[in-house]
Amino acid sequence: MNGITNTGVFITGGCGDIGQAVARRFLAAGARVVLADMLPMAQGRALARKLDARNTAYTHCDVTRSSSVDRAFATAIKFLGRLDTVICNAGAVENQPFVEVTEAAWKRVLEVNLTGSFLTAQRGARLLLKNPRRGRARRGTILFTGSWVQDMPWPQGAGYCASKGGQQMLAKIIAQELAPHGINAAIVAPGMVYAGLTKRICDRDKRFARQASRVAPLLRMSTAEEVAGSFLFLASEDGAYITGSTLLVDGGATLVRRD
Ligand SMILES: NC(=O)c1ccc[n+]([C@@H]2O[C@H](COP(=O)([O-])OP(=O)(O)OC[C@H]3O[C@@H](n4cnc5c(N)ncnc54)[C@H](O)[C@@H]3O)[C@@H](O)[C@H]2O)c1
Repeated sequence: MNGITNTGVFITGGCGDIGQAVARRFLAAGARVVLADMLPMAQGRALARKLDARNTAYTHCDVTRSSSVDRAFATAIKFLGRLDTVICNAGAVENQPFVEVTEAAWKRVLEVNLTGSFLTAQRGARLLLKNPRRGRARRGTILFTGSWVQDMPWPQGAGYCASKGGQQMLAKIIAQELAPHGINAAIVAPGMVYAGLTKRICDRDKRFARQASRVAPLLRMSTAEEVAGSFLFLASEDGAYITGSTLLVDGGATLVRRD
């Protein structure tokens, strides 16, 4: 895909299912990738080697702590040379009936999904702004893994849905403020993906699994791979005029159904 070869990509939650699928797509298109995640170093490095030893590195990063995010970007810049695409993908979920949501669970989900996206996008933007600008070409792109529930309430999803709704507004603010400086921001919003967070819930709760596979008019969940190409598209030349938008990859989950 045009505009991806030799670019530098930083992915938080890069060792998770969607993060790895996205990393594979960028690597296949000729990018270099840094996976930023919470795995112990040995495990993270082994995963990076498995993906593509030459072009992938792992850095430990807790997106809820600014010092950790700063350290992770410093490591990434050493490996990549130049940063082009920042992907705020780290995520956590806790589903509880609203009246039972604990303050701790609320804070944890908001901290990872919203504060983590803020810290990653802000630190990433500061680095992207240092890229020299050639004509009207982009200095870089900041992408977010949103969710179809950023616009649609999901039962017992107070913290998660609120965090993704907040992340959507954050992306729009960034897009509006940084467009004149050559930085695009956009969201890929998956529906129900049989991977990562959703797979873990489905595998322990069959009722949830049945509900999840009936949510989309396509009557199945997606794979992580089916979501990953949209990140590549938005970061490529074909995505150059897209900023502030959400690309829904939800199998139609947000459509009103009449059956
Ligand atoms: N699986 C789905 O159905 C689905 C649907 C819509 C959106 N999403 C979003 O996709 C993203 C990836 O989720 P996934 O399904 O691949 O799950 P996953 O659990 O496989 O990946 C999430 C990754 O985030 C990392 N992480 C968690 N807290 C972190 C922190 N504080 N700092 C750094 N990394 C941290 C985890 O270690 C993990 O590797 C999330 O933002 C999630 O909300 C997932």
